[in-house]
Amino acid sequence: LTTAATDPYAHIRKPLEIGNCTVRNRIVRTAHGTNLLGLDGSIPEAWIAFHERRAEGGIGLSIGEVAPIHPSAGRATPGYMKLWDESIVAQLEPFTARMHAQGMSVFQQLWHGGVSSAGAEGQPAWSASTVADPSSGRVPIAMTKTMIDDVVAGFAECAARCERAGYDGVEVHGAHSYLVHQFLTPVYNRREDDYGGPLENRMRFLVEILEACRAAVGTGFPVGVRLSAIDLVPNGMEPDDVAEVAARLERAGLVDFVDISLSTYHDQPKMLAAMYDPHGYELPTSRPVSAAVAVPTIVAGRITSLAEAEAIVADGTADMVSMVRAAIADPDFVNKSFALEPERVRPCIGCNQGCMGFIFSGLGVCCTVNPQAGRESVYPDISPAAEPLRVVVVGGGPAGMEAARTAALAGHTVSLHEASPTLGGQTRIASRAKLRTDLGVITAWLERELPRVGVEVHLGSRLEAASPELREADLVIVATGSRREVDGVQRMRPEEIPTGIDLPHVLSSVELLADFIGSPRRALVFDDRWDAEAASVAETLLDREVAVTFATSAPTLAPLTETSLQRAPFLRRLSSDERFELRIRQAVTRIEPEKVELTGLDDKVAREVPADLVVMISRPLADRGLYDELVEAGVHAKLIGDALEATDLVHAIHTARATLLGVDPNLIMA
Ligand SMILES: Cc1cc2nc3c(=O)[nH]c(=O)nc-3n(C[C@H](O)[C@H](O)[C@H](O)COP(=O)(O)O)c2cc1C
Ligand code: SF4
Repeated sequence: LTTAATDPYAHIRKPLEIGNCTVRNRIVRTAHGTNLLGLDGSIPEAWIAFHERRAEGGIGLSIGEVAPIHPSAGRATPGYMKLWDESIVAQLEPFTARMHAQGMSVFQQLWHGGVSSAGAEGQPAWSASTVADPSSGRVPIAMTKTMIDDVVAGFAECAARCERAGYDGVEVHGAHSYLVHQFLTPVYNRREDDYGGPLENRMRFLVEILEACRAAVGTGFPVGVRLSAIDLVPNGMEPDDVAEVAARLERAGLVDFVDISLSTYHDQPKMLAAMYDPHGYELPTSRPVSAAVAVPTIVAGRITSLAEAEAIVADGTADMVSMVRAAIADPDFVNKSFALEPERVRPCIGCNQGCMGFIFSGLGVCCTVNPQAGRESVYPDISPAAEPLRVVVVGGGPAGMEAARTAALAGHTVSLHEASPTLGGQTRIASRAKLRTDLGVITAWLERELPRVGVEVHLGSRLEAASPELREADLVIVATGSRREVDGVQRMRPEEIPTGIDLPHVLSSVELLADFIGSPRRALVFDDRWDAEAASVAETLLDREVAVTFATSAPTLAPLTETSLQRAPFLRRLSSDERFELRIRQAVTRIEPEKVELTGLDDKVAREVPADLVVMISRPLADRGLYDELVEAGVHAKLIGDALEATDLVHAIHTARATLLGVDPNLIMA
């Protein structure tokens, strides 16, 4: 029996009053875009179902994603919410009712994009001054007093509209270099009128918005603000400046809560840092702001377990803790943890590939480790199968483990055979690279799940097509992964195999990370794959005092990591090391023991670079030999993961779950 004294979650279990709203516990999902809303500004069932699933999981408070409060406000994603249109109230009422039915409180973030977004209906962007947007280069209109008054009125009308739609509160988005922040920070605000210059003037727009919102809603209806604790750009605001903003707003009685984030679009990845930043990375900058006010505060930043959240509330850093990506990865993480089963929580690994990556690719939010996220209205839960089968899974990488787990949860009798002595496959090996440790968190979790759900695991067990285990199975799942052949075939020069490719110092990334031996001085890392693999190998080598020439067939470093917001951080870290050299649009044409010849794909000029180690990162080959033999022999077999198509971890886990549930794997690409 858990008592207050023994409860590991005693602080975060406690309800909290924000204005007249009682939030059931201290866990928040701060606003996060989904791209699940309608292109016409409507509210689809998929969006409601996504949030409802997280309400069922026990989260205390959710703050709805950026909602434009005025036609000039723009869209953060193609799917958006037309909050300035009165017809939205009727569409949102069922949403808030369904959240409340699950006991979750729900606020709405009120947003104007300013220069970061052209108007939702094609109008030019508005901002404090004519300072260009760092992402698009767009130059905005400096707002007139009439425009300012119009937008202030828009915030207030939308606050009232949210109250009528059944929301429990609203939050003015004053962070992330959107319009309100563009007025607050001297980085964007060059005005010489009452809205520019000293802090009091730069705060005037926000103060007017909050005053107008307060006047528009009922007494006690919570109104708060989200602030970036630091701008992370020269001449930007520092935590002490932002603490002063928060304190002044509180003294003026304008905020019921302060939600603290960080950064501007000059450093967007920092707003939702990936696995390269530590858990709680925002806390050093959030703390001074949180300490400056007495009203409830919210902090965020790669906090993925309730134990971490508990420590943050217990030590007084903040009153509430945001866990956005944790809730995408496992909507039930609060209930599972409160039931004292935190080990069952499927961990967010900070990859950003399924959540931000999908949104940036124009798709609805999803999750690498949780295929159901964002597809709740169409993707079935794992439920007991009509007919229990004997299922044999061949291969213990993430795809094989996810398939075995899904099959066991569906009631099948499952055994998993892995040829090597360990589970985890290439993902576990990839987790040895510098700053990629969290890749191993999901393989370790899947490994722990297998005995819990009753999968019989056989390590060091290489099955052949003729093995009786396979012949007697009702269903064989082939998850044999992929091979890293260092054969010199390059995507832009498939016919020109470099001489010397067979030399012993030419390795694949798997060979290098699995068994790093010798003491090379200068490596050539050749990236023909364009994702995080080569960049993380380069980072690992630099960490081990090996100088790196990074040659790539791509026009830039690791272009496939752009959508998961990891490219700029990789580039920043690598290029800050003087032993790192980047050469774009290259082919490897000759390898010798101490040097490599590279030839420019565009200028066709051959240049030699010194290298006593060569790591070739090329597309892996699907290992489907066993599958083909089983099909020939008439065995009921299915291919998943890299063995189906060697791509990435998203594909591995999704094809595993989809195949076992009989779902079209392309469903997640909708
Ligand atoms: C896909 C995605 C979209 C986001 N969109 C918003 C947004 O609409 N408004 C906002 O204030 N923050 C947004 N954020 C930032 C989150 O609110 C949060 O601060 C960030 O994800 C860090 O918390 P976490 O580490 O718990 O995920 C977004 C984050 C993600 C992952
Ligand atoms: S896609 Fe990656 S970062 Fe995003 S929620 Fe899922 S595990 Fe976390």
